[in-house]
Amino acid sequence: MPLFHNLYEVEEQARAVLSAQAYDYFAGGANDEITVAANRRAFDALSLRYRVLVDVSRRRLSCRLFGREIPAPLVVAPIAFQRLAHPNGEVASARAAAAQGLPFTASTFATTSLEEIRAASAGPLWFQLYVHEDRGITQDLVARAAAAGFEALVLTVDVPEIGRRERDERNGFRLGADLRAANFLPQAGGAPHAPSGGSGLASFVRRMRDASLSWKDLEWLRGLSSMPLVLKGVVRADDAKRAVDHGAAGIVVSNHGGRQLDTAIPSLQALPEVVAAVDGGAVVMMDGGIRRGTDVAKALALGARAVMVGRPVLWGLAAAGEAGVERVLSLLRDELDLAMALLGAPDLAALTPDLLA
Ligand code: GLV
Repeated sequence: MPLFHNLYEVEEQARAVLSAQAYDYFAGGANDEITVAANRRAFDALSLRYRVLVDVSRRRLSCRLFGREIPAPLVVAPIAFQRLAHPNGEVASARAAAAQGLPFTASTFATTSLEEIRAASAGPLWFQLYVHEDRGITQDLVARAAAAGFEALVLTVDVPEIGRRERDERNGFRLGADLRAANFLPQAGGAPHAPSGGSGLASFVRRMRDASLSWKDLEWLRGLSSMPLVLKGVVRADDAKRAVDHGAAGIVVSNHGGRQLDTAIPSLQALPEVVAAVDGGAVVMMDGGIRRGTDVAKALALGARAVMVGRPVLWGLAAAGEAGVERVLSLLRDELDLAMALLGAPDLAALTPDLLA
């Protein structure tokens, strides 16, 4: 018996084992969660105009990302506090990604340090960055990621302030005493423990990010390492163009899974204008709402090179640890493979906008 048959089933399994506080933290979004739902609806609203009588006996799902060939256009999105979902946390999910040959993006707010993640995984690793008000702390983090062989620096650009997660406020979200943001020394504010009332996450993030960050800081950031810089959280053509002009090697079209600005444009809807503006000058990826192989095909047909997968990975981790994450990633890969066969698309280049209606 497979662990689960699809990415909806695994969410139900995860919900059954997680505390309500942890489930709500990972599942929830900002305010009325309109963008959380809209991200998904955007996929469902597109129909597929499949081709027939194409030789699809051999299918190629591999794609190139920052100089590395990966077997499928899937990247594990950054997710904070993964040991809240499973005792093995980031180590389990990074290992599962490595087993599939897919990049794993470690969060600045991981509950396992980036060195421990590196030690646990021989696969490709990316590092997601929140810039700290103390730039020395950020400089040190980036240097550590580069020294540990991380292959891309993913700067989150949609969190000048943290969105209002009302579920976390209601639950008084905080980490247990045994968990902390392991990339930081305790004295640098490594954990949202404080019984502050309301969301411990909100007060934690407020201490750990710099709301003054702007375009002019990107040159400094690029100078800290030779890792390609990826901006995650862009939804507009003008911002995408600016990102390329400032030397970004990649863009993730994203609204943070609906966790930041509620009623923000769904990622899939924003994707075409970003792809057009970038015009091949950077790698465009997207995230938000991917649950099926056909979703991946739709994003690629609209010009994404690859997609990031967040919550489903976390559900796999909560439900069955490393094996659960492996199952999530291999299911999505296999679903994409089948979708390509049925679409008449033997390789990723054949996923073109004419397939969509
Ligand atoms: C952190 O980035 C979060 O979305 O909770």
